[in-house]
Amino acid sequence: GGVPVAVLGSANADLVVTVGRAPGAGETVSGHGFTTTVGGKGLNQAVAAARAGARVRMVATVGDDVHGRLLRDTLAREGVDTDALRVHPGLPTGTAHITVEDDGENRIVVVPGANAATGAHPDDLRALRDRPPRVLLLQLEIPVPAVVAAARAVAPSGTRVVLTPAPVPRGGLPGDLLGQVDLLVPNQHEACALAGTGDLAEAVRWLLRRVPEVVVTLGARGCLHATRDGGHTVVPAVPVTAVDTTGAGDVFAGVLAVALAEGSPVDGALRRATAAAALSVTRSGAAASAPRRDEIDRAVRPAAPAGRA
Ligand code: RIB
Ligand code: NA
Repeated sequence: GGVPVAVLGSANADLVVTVGRAPGAGETVSGHGFTTTVGGKGLNQAVAAARAGARVRMVATVGDDVHGRLLRDTLAREGVDTDALRVHPGLPTGTAHITVEDDGENRIVVVPGANAATGAHPDDLRALRDRPPRVLLLQLEIPVPAVVAAARAVAPSGTRVVLTPAPVPRGGLPGDLLGQVDLLVPNQHEACALAGTGDLAEAVRWLLRRVPEVVVTLGARGCLHATRDGGHTVVPAVPVTAVDTTGAGDVFAGVLAVALAEGSPVDGALRRATAAAALSVTRSGAAASAPRRDEIDRAVRPAAPAGRA
């Protein structure tokens, strides 16, 4: 049968340099450290969803190399179903070259490598069509036609399609993609880029003409949920000291998908996702910083005051 959550998307080796301040053009600075860890928006979402307690399948492509093996081993260790993780014989595993500054801000250059082949093999979509998930998580670090095809492949099965539109492609999205999406989860910058406006309220109105439901992540300000019927809620963020914000949006989407797949009301689902994203920014790494279910439980349900049952 189908899994609660499937993720079709990117898997990268994140090559992370920590530095006080990122260099400008032509400048050389000395960094504090370097690590190789797992990342990619798709993989981060899959690991976050698995740690949040769901059975998760990942559809992705890696190279036949040391990074690809690291990604497969990590997914397997996290309990993610890797039956649909494909090895491309001729392309390297995707890499993300990340600079993290002391204040937790990051800059990322992604080299797609094998991610560029995701969706090109019939098995990729068969994995979704034959055993449709309750929720399908999509992002845009693989070719956009593959994302459109994946959303189409699950359309007959009642799967809820959740898209994180990151990164926003130059020239925007093809018109037929947003029409396949049930819930769009952009950050503020992506929402405005898609709608072609600097005004968030206007961007949300533009998006709601194309998708029925939008959650805009607002970083340290929490998130905004809006539906086509006029519903609007702001969920405030949990205040934290940021160490590394890389992948916080992916953690948010992965945890949100699990709560929705479990049938949680949207309000509770958003509070869980917000709390999980906050926990993730207090730790280094992308997928590695995703919290486990019990940590999320504790963060959303503070201990009852003394004297109450
Ligand atoms: O969203 C964060 C991710 O973006 C990183 O893990 C990196 O791999 C890039 O894809
Ligand atoms: Na983090």
